Parts: sequence; C-alpha cells; structure tokens
Amino acid sequence: MARSGKVTVVGAGFYGSTTALRLAEYDVFETVVLTDIVEGKPEGLALDMNQSRSIENFETKVIGATTTADGGGYEATANSDVVVITAGLPRKPGMSRMDLIGVNAGIVRGVAENVAKHSPNAVIIVVSNPLDEMTALAQIATNFPKHRVMGQAGMLDTARFTHFVAEKLQVPVSSVKTLTLGSHGETMVPVPSRCTVDGKPLSDQLSEVEIAELVDRTRNGGAEVVALLKTGSAYYAPSAAAARMAKAVIEDSGAVMPVCAWVDGEYGISGVYLGVEAEIGRTGIKKVVESKLSDTEIAALKIAAEAVRAKQADVKDL
Ligand code: LAC
Repeated sequence: MARSGKVTVVGAGFYGSTTALRLAEYDVFETVVLTDIVEGKPEGLALDMNQSRSIENFETKVIGATTTADGGGYEATANSDVVVITAGLPRKPGMSRMDLIGVNAGIVRGVAENVAKHSPNAVIIVVSNPLDEMTALAQIATNFPKHRVMGQAGMLDTARFTHFVAEKLQVPVSSVKTLTLGSHGETMVPVPSRCTVDGKPLSDQLSEVEIAELVDRTRNGGAEVVALLKTGSAYYAPSAAAARMAKAVIEDSGAVMPVCAWVDGEYGISGVYLGVEAEIGRTGIKKVVESKLSDTEIAALKIAAEAVRAKQADVKDL
C-alpha cells in the first residue's frame, strides 16, 4: 500500500517516542512528526529513528520539532491527518490517574488549542491521563466534532486482560479474546461475557473467583507497572494501542476497537466520553458499536458513565 498522510505525536517521552517509532515502522504514513517542549529532544529522537530506516526497511520520514507553550514550532505539525496527544505527566507510584487531572488539564488544553490551529481537519487521539477527562477536554479545547476526538484506553486494557488470561491458562494470546469498556480508571468494566478462549466461553475454563482476580489485575494493570518502574508509567502496550488506532484512521480500515468515544444513546447512555467499541476510520469514530452485554455489565457501564460524566463536567473550568 502506498504511504500517505501525516501523523503528529505530541510529547516525546517514552509513550510518545515509542508511538512515533511504531507508526514509522508501519511504513504507511508519509511523515511522522514528533514534538516536545524539551529543546532538541524530538529532533534528536527523529534523527535516530530515521537512521534505523535502512535496517528496519521503512521509508516514512520522521520529523522532530521543539514546541513552546505559546504555540512556537507547531508549524511543523501543520495539516496533520492524525494527532496523538501524549503530553502531560505520568503517574508516580501510589498515585491514581485522577491525581493528575489539575496539572495535565493545563497541558492538554494548551496542546489541543495549538493542534487545532494548525491541523483543523485532524483526527485526535488522546492518551494523557486521566484519560476520559482529558479526551473530553481536548474536544472542548479544539471544538472539533466529537467523532474526530477519541481516547486510547480500551485497546490497552483489553490487551492487558488478554495477556493475563493467556498466562493463567498457558495458551497463546492469539487464542484469547477479551473486552474491557467503561473508564480507564476505577470504573473500568472488564466484560467476562465477551471473553473466549479458542471460541469457548472463559467461564467454561476458569472459576468465578479466578475470573474476578484477573478482572481486578486488569483494572490495576497500569498501577502494577508504575509500582515496578518507580519512575514513569507503562509505554510499550500503551503505544501499541495508540499506534494501531492511528493506523486504522489513516487506512480508513473500519476496524472495531474498544476506545474512549462520545456516546449518544448507546446502552441507554448519552452525552459523555466513555470506553465503548467503535468503528475507526478516516473520519475518526465512524460509529459506536453496541453489543450484547449481561445486565450486570450494562449496570457497571452506567455507573462508569455517571462517574466520568461528573468529572468531565469539571474539566471545562480547569
Ligand atoms: C496505563 C497508563 C498509560 O494504563 O494509563 O499504563
């Protein structure tokens, strides 16, 4: 397939730089732009990535650009088709994602405004935490249509759940299908009724207690990595998830993925950014896909919706 389009990754920390590298290695974009406010860091990383092209066999060019809070340097991002916002602080051990809301709101708002100015037609993928709230804030700050702003969380949480199930049963990850919906936080909703191993229900293979343990570990999946790293948070699985979403956008693939999307009536929930399954393509969220859930799972999803709705109402003032 011919390479096309431009993707910008804002923030050249581990999450952003790993996302940029994955996107470059897919070799589907013409250009990957990596930005950061640390002078020289994005340029240095871009140069390093470009020098790996002949070894890894990709032609996508990576451009690094130092930016400033008042919008300097954003010309390099102009007319991006997709923008992944990773800007913001990661958690420290013991912190919840919500503890970051004050400091990250200021960063994400500023970035989103600058992005919107230079790439008025972009699809935005937010990964900064707290995820559901920062996604809502990015939509407010860009004033983009809601279908063009989404957040990355469900792909990651689902991948973690899949890994834990595969490890528990000692089976290949490719034989496991799982799903998580809801928030990327306390009210994450892992969906055991949609989990299968070789097409058979997970509940045939694990007891309720065992499933509950894996659900719990999934819900705390990010914190478990933070506690081990001590500085910074996870980035290999998160960047894989964000990069796949950006790829689905540029390829207009219509792939159905669990993402943080604006919900408008699905599952009887409206007017909130929430983790649901959605079809991803060139216009962003093509449609939210509603599937059959158990009554308990729908009830949990509604609780998640109300929890994030309350927080999302606050972000416009942050
Ligand atoms: C995590 C962070 C990136 O879950 O939200 O690891």
